[in-house]
Amino acid sequence: MKFDKPATRNPIDQLRVVGKPVDRIDGPLKVTGKAIYAYEQNDAAPDAAYGYVLGAAIAKGRIASMALEDARRAPGVLAIVTADNAGKLDRGEFYVARALAGPSVDHYHQAVAVVVAHSFEQARAAAGLIRVEYVREAGAFDLAATRTSAPMAKQGSFGPPPETGLGNFIGAHAAAPLRLDADYSTPDQAHAMMEPHATIAAWDGDKLTLWTAIQQINWGVRDIAKTLGIPKANVRIVSPFIGGGFGGKGTILSDAVMAALAARAARRPVKVTLQRALMFNNVTHRPATIQRLRIGATRDGKITALGHESWSGNLAGGRPESATIQTGVLYAGANRMTRLRLAHLDLPEGGAMRAPGEAPGMMALEIAMDEMAEKLGIDPVEFRILNDTQVDPANPKRPFSRRQLVECLRTGAERFGWSDRPRKPATRREGDWLIGVGVAAAIRGAPIMKCAARVRLNRAGVVTVEMDMTDIGTGSYSIIGQTAAEMMGIGMDKVVVKLGDSRFPESPGSGGQWGAASSTAGVYAACVKLREAVATRFGVAEADARFVDGAVRAGDRIFTLGEAAEAGELVAEDSIEYGDLAKRYVQQTFGAHFVEVAVDAVTGEIRLRRMLAVCAAGRILNPKMARSQVIGGMTMGAGAALMEHLVVDKRIGMFVNHDLAGYEVPVHADIPHQDVIFLDEVDETISPVKAKGVGELGISGVAAAIANAVYNATGVRVRDYPITLDKLL
Ligand code: MOS
Repeated sequence: MKFDKPATRNPIDQLRVVGKPVDRIDGPLKVTGKAIYAYEQNDAAPDAAYGYVLGAAIAKGRIASMALEDARRAPGVLAIVTADNAGKLDRGEFYVARALAGPSVDHYHQAVAVVVAHSFEQARAAAGLIRVEYVREAGAFDLAATRTSAPMAKQGSFGPPPETGLGNFIGAHAAAPLRLDADYSTPDQAHAMMEPHATIAAWDGDKLTLWTAIQQINWGVRDIAKTLGIPKANVRIVSPFIGGGFGGKGTILSDAVMAALAARAARRPVKVTLQRALMFNNVTHRPATIQRLRIGATRDGKITALGHESWSGNLAGGRPESATIQTGVLYAGANRMTRLRLAHLDLPEGGAMRAPGEAPGMMALEIAMDEMAEKLGIDPVEFRILNDTQVDPANPKRPFSRRQLVECLRTGAERFGWSDRPRKPATRREGDWLIGVGVAAAIRGAPIMKCAARVRLNRAGVVTVEMDMTDIGTGSYSIIGQTAAEMMGIGMDKVVVKLGDSRFPESPGSGGQWGAASSTAGVYAACVKLREAVATRFGVAEADARFVDGAVRAGDRIFTLGEAAEAGELVAEDSIEYGDLAKRYVQQTFGAHFVEVAVDAVTGEIRLRRMLAVCAAGRILNPKMARSQVIGGMTMGAGAALMEHLVVDKRIGMFVNHDLAGYEVPVHADIPHQDVIFLDEVDETISPVKAKGVGELGISGVAAAIANAVYNATGVRVRDYPITLDKLL
């Protein structure tokens, strides 16, 4: 199916099942321990041995020698794989870091060996007996030190153009009656998902099966095939349940490659999980940024100049953190400039983490907007509304598909009691607590990708959906089931959803906030074909058939859906592809975040009190799950504002706090009352389902709303995240 003009009315619009707060269909499996995660696939590989990954103890340099004899002789050891016996290894197409070091080392904790043994404990003990001699080389680990020398980033396959300009930014900024020019910084952050990267690998001849935790199965197949130099057709990836990803499980990482190599060497299935201590330096992270924001405005609050530059670092060939991505479209203004600079750093690889680009970009931009509103003496909500635009600032002929930023701000202000806010910072006090409120806009792209699905109808009237889509805790199983139920006129009790297997039709997986929109559109396309097949079986036209309550009605005739499969299962498969609507319309999701904080006037302790997000993100397929996504994003935004910080040891070149004791994320006690409001919206330019994503919108802007609330409470403007109490005293 080709989708190249805005959607008209179709069966999804009936909203019998879609749009309802249906319970998670995988919920009972998860809370009873019956959802089998990658490392637990013991039935699939009952004789699996255990692999233990040894990480490099230097950040840059080379391995001079490795003494493996003691480890080889250790109890239970079956094999040891290092660069010397691994064979030729390539890299995948997404990450640049090699899965296995040797002889050169590219970053700290890069794998130097995997030890395979009968038990995990034996493998771990043997790994401790390996003696590695390194020759350490000087590396670059300090982003701030590269500020004057970092070159412009190159255009990659993802992300905004590294350099954009409109009008005369420098002249307009200099001429503006009111100006802001300030620097902000965001630290390196870790995905820190609950389930560590984990894989069981099994070879059958030259065919490889990986049970692994991965967000995009198609990327994983592509990347493991390329890395090992085997045909994609020889790879199967299975990933029915994933314990969180946040972008860190976009494609395969060292656990998968090490498991595959280890299984080949040991001639039996091998399971590898990255121990928690490797989950910070061996894997990818969100790169730190330094951002310079320049805003110029007229005295009545119209932005005339808007400039945003961002510096980040990565390994050679890696991507920049696209922190300027939203700045081209969030606010009006005739003179503009964005630049992404990319330094070479020898830290672990920077990669995508929930709302790559917008999450750190909005952390800076939305403080800058608050600062500018204060300079102007204009309410921060009104200042944003004053600078709304309904067209692409760079192309007035290109409208937004739907843009309800103003409605999000107004609704939020009303619901949150914004008019009661302290007008002047540090003026409201309750005992030792200084009270403040803050606001920020939210924006995140609404991409959609080609997606295929297969649907099967049996004589019991049960529809089974098969696709390689993943559910990383987001609710994919449920919204896919709801879409099929709506299309076929059945209840959720008549739908079976099978995901997470590369043998199923190809989806774009879970990433970039495209999963919900893309996967449900793929199911729509397959169900259109199944409806046609059913109608044909009854000798009626699909256009004349109504699919309701498990029955098909055409004129005065009525059949049960199952009758269509009496002679054998009906199977339909299709994919949906897109024309140029994404070029003709700016497709984004919008929101507004409101936060109230209390700051201890004596100790500087910051406590969140209330959080509200108002979101406009297309059709909400399941409000219960969408809310879970948004409050999860808000919670992660609270971590970004107040806690999360991978601390770089600039001498050694690694993240020091590489465990969950040292890398702080919010716990329940940190998170107060959270509210989410979804504005009524359908977006006909996205897909026939008219839905966008919300999983990354929820994090974008939250941290700045918290920073602005802390300023409102204390009068202390913190521009360097995280806002820890020492920065307030
Ligand atoms: Mo996302 S960080 O694009 O999984």
